[in-house]
Amino acid sequence: MTLTTMPAVLDLDAQCVLHTYTRAPFVLTHGEGVYLYDSEGRRYLDLAAGIAVNALGYGDPALLAAISQQAARLIHVSNLYLTAPQAELAARLCALSFAGKVFFCNSGAEANEAAIKLARKWVYANHPGAGKTGLVAFENGFHGRTIGALSVTPRPRYQDPFRPLLPDVTIAPFNDLEAAAGIIGPDTCAVIVEPVQGEGGVHVATPEFLQGLRALCDAHDAVLIFDEVQCGMGRTGMLWAHQASGVTPDIMTLAKPLAGGLPIGAALISDRIAAAIEVGDHGSTFGGGPLVASAARVVLERISDPAFLRHVEAMGAALRDGLAALRAPQIVEVRGRGLMIGVELTVPAAEVVSAGYAHGLIMVSAGPNVLRLVPPLILEQVHVDEALEKLDAILRG
Ligand SMILES: Cc1ncc(COP(=O)(O)O)c(C=O)c1O
Repeated sequence: MTLTTMPAVLDLDAQCVLHTYTRAPFVLTHGEGVYLYDSEGRRYLDLAAGIAVNALGYGDPALLAAISQQAARLIHVSNLYLTAPQAELAARLCALSFAGKVFFCNSGAEANEAAIKLARKWVYANHPGAGKTGLVAFENGFHGRTIGALSVTPRPRYQDPFRPLLPDVTIAPFNDLEAAAGIIGPDTCAVIVEPVQGEGGVHVATPEFLQGLRALCDAHDAVLIFDEVQCGMGRTGMLWAHQASGVTPDIMTLAKPLAGGLPIGAALISDRIAAAIEVGDHGSTFGGGPLVASAARVVLERISDPAFLRHVEAMGAALRDGLAALRAPQIVEVRGRGLMIGVELTVPAAEVVSAGYAHGLIMVSAGPNVLRLVPPLILEQVHVDEALEKLDAILRG
């Protein structure tokens, strides 16, 4: 059964898919480069990339070749068995970061669950019985929808129906080191922070804030977790967003773009933390299987190329400068780093996102009045120009 017509898909979706999302009013059928196409033959310039996932866009030949070759050989074996793609991916992630070990899972929320559990285990092994159970997270942070990740995602709309959540969580103001110093203490197990907040409105952590959190965690023997699920893997023009601060975490979580659109999550762990982890402490049936790991190897090699990262930085600057130059009265502020851009508006972002569809432009919001632009990282100047032209037309009404 092939369902290409939009009414048929809409109908089945309305009947059978649990509606936890507001859907865009079209049915996507395929993509090419930075463009998506719908069932009515309309083309969209994609500034959303499946919510900061499709870093290499659509139809990248090397990515497709890696996926199809590996799929023909071996898709899944579970983590009871060794496969070369997983070991090789872990080795590359370690070589390119502070980490000594990698735990693989399937999503951003799972990566953060792993990070919280690993931090707890490290405390259990190193400070037994000390009551060192506190988790510190930040206003406007987003770490996922599973109970642990949700517990450190302070949004009443997301949290309230699901209480009780994890205990001993304290929420601190973002980029406020003095406040953090009053909260992080001997009872703190872990601090979790996004170096660039995504869902919460695209807010960049200052280097001083991340450096200060590092010092506080060191002073109180707490585990510092950087959630780079959205801002990592080249999105900011650096391979890891925290590189802008000069400090490294104890654990970094990754997901979205890592396997080019296939589901993957990873917790990158320092040797110090990894030393506390034993067989049986955590697990995942699918995590880091050979198919996703083969895809991720291609994505990681491409993105970690300094020339690729320079391109991201240049395109990000062009898009940000162009947005500022629009001088649209609805634009309050343009912020972000690399190709992770937030445009704060005086009007609801959802209205601009909707208007974008009619102009062949796909965007997402980040909160009620922030437009989030997280395009495929392969975006070129010609696409930046097209995006600015379209946004200009949309904002002029
Ligand atoms: C920073 C951050 N962490 C965690 C998550 C959760 O990832 P997932 O939806 O893959 O569970 C997201 C998703 O948007 C995110 O932006």
